[in-house]
Amino acid sequence: MFNWAFIGTGTIVRKFIKGLSAVEGANLYAVGSRNISRAEEFAKEFGIEKAYGDISMLAEDDNIDCVYIGVPHALHKPYMELCIKKGRNVLCEKPFTINEAEAKQIAELAKEYGVFVMEAAWTKFLPVIIKVKELLESGAVGEVCDIRASFGFFSETDVTNRLYDLELGGGALLDVGVYPLMLALYYMDGCPDKIESDALIGATGVDEINHFTLVYNRNGRRVTAQLSSALKENQGADAVITTTKGRVVIPDFYQAQEAYVYDSEGKLIQTISHSHSSNGYEFEARAVQTCIAKGIAQCDVHTLDDTIDILKIADGMRKEWGLVYPADNMQT
Ligand SMILES: NC(=O)c1ccc[n+]([C@@H]2O[C@H](COP(=O)([O-])OP(=O)(O)OC[C@H]3O[C@@H](n4cnc5c(N)ncnc54)[C@H](OP(=O)(O)O)[C@@H]3O)[C@@H](O)[C@H]2O)c1
Repeated sequence: MFNWAFIGTGTIVRKFIKGLSAVEGANLYAVGSRNISRAEEFAKEFGIEKAYGDISMLAEDDNIDCVYIGVPHALHKPYMELCIKKGRNVLCEKPFTINEAEAKQIAELAKEYGVFVMEAAWTKFLPVIIKVKELLESGAVGEVCDIRASFGFFSETDVTNRLYDLELGGGALLDVGVYPLMLALYYMDGCPDKIESDALIGATGVDEINHFTLVYNRNGRRVTAQLSSALKENQGADAVITTTKGRVVIPDFYQAQEAYVYDSEGKLIQTISHSHSSNGYEFEARAVQTCIAKGIAQCDVHTLDDTIDILKIADGMRKEWGLVYPADNMQT
């Protein structure tokens, strides 16, 4: 049995638990909330063995194999610190931290305490996303010329919603922009040479719409990734990878179950499919369980260096937009 503990009782924790229903050996062991009654109710609803109303008490529990953190962004770092210092393995929701400096501190801490720590980059673990990566690397579809990917939805401005709360790390980039960004870095194998970006900063101070282009120089060839995210526009979440021999289209890439490969004439030449056995979160959960069982410090699909790259790029763009989170002023 692999004992999972959950911090938070909101939307994503519920989804992740559903994903675990398809993972062999996963046991819903403990839940922690700011409020003991909420933790107890949640535990009862899902048949979770232990309920904690104090996160530091949860972190003390030696029976936990991995803590899954699903709380607002600004709380990721303090909760990770608490858990790592008690020797817990951690899978933390995206964005891993508010900025690069925080991510580096956590990476150091993970090394010091010898625990497994990973950002919950679930989309990178979807078999279709991995198969497209293999296809691009095989050269069968030529070289990548351009990647277009968005993740945008419409929501009403709501100061009580974490999405619009500067203190909690709200905004489109950190909430959903990290998905197209991590997809592009995955398929391009690392950071660009140049970034062009702009954003609409809303009344609550967070970015509501952003567009950004990653520019790579690949042996004199200009390769781009044109990306965007939004809290105020339904941009969908499709990805299109144009190559020298055609293009690959991944509808709803963040939860992909299919991808379509077209030749340069626009003819469909291949369909890549892999269905979820639950809701898609099972793939990252399975990978985490395997790494921890085998004593592997970091999962090669999404390493802490990959996470640091994402936050380094996000920091650079935010600087241009003048978007500063409280955590940015708290670096030691
Ligand atoms: N991977 C994905 O597909 C996906 C999807 C959605 C969100 N996320 C990520 O998951 C994390 C949580 O998002 P969510 O949509 O699940 O949020 P949510 O529904 O608002 O739930 C967040 C939970 O965090 C806990 N919490 C602790 N301190 C809090 C505070 N000061 N304010 C608000 N909540 C607090 C709350 O549980 P208690 O009240 O019980 O403590 C709450 O239920 C974020 O990092 C988000 O980016 C990922």
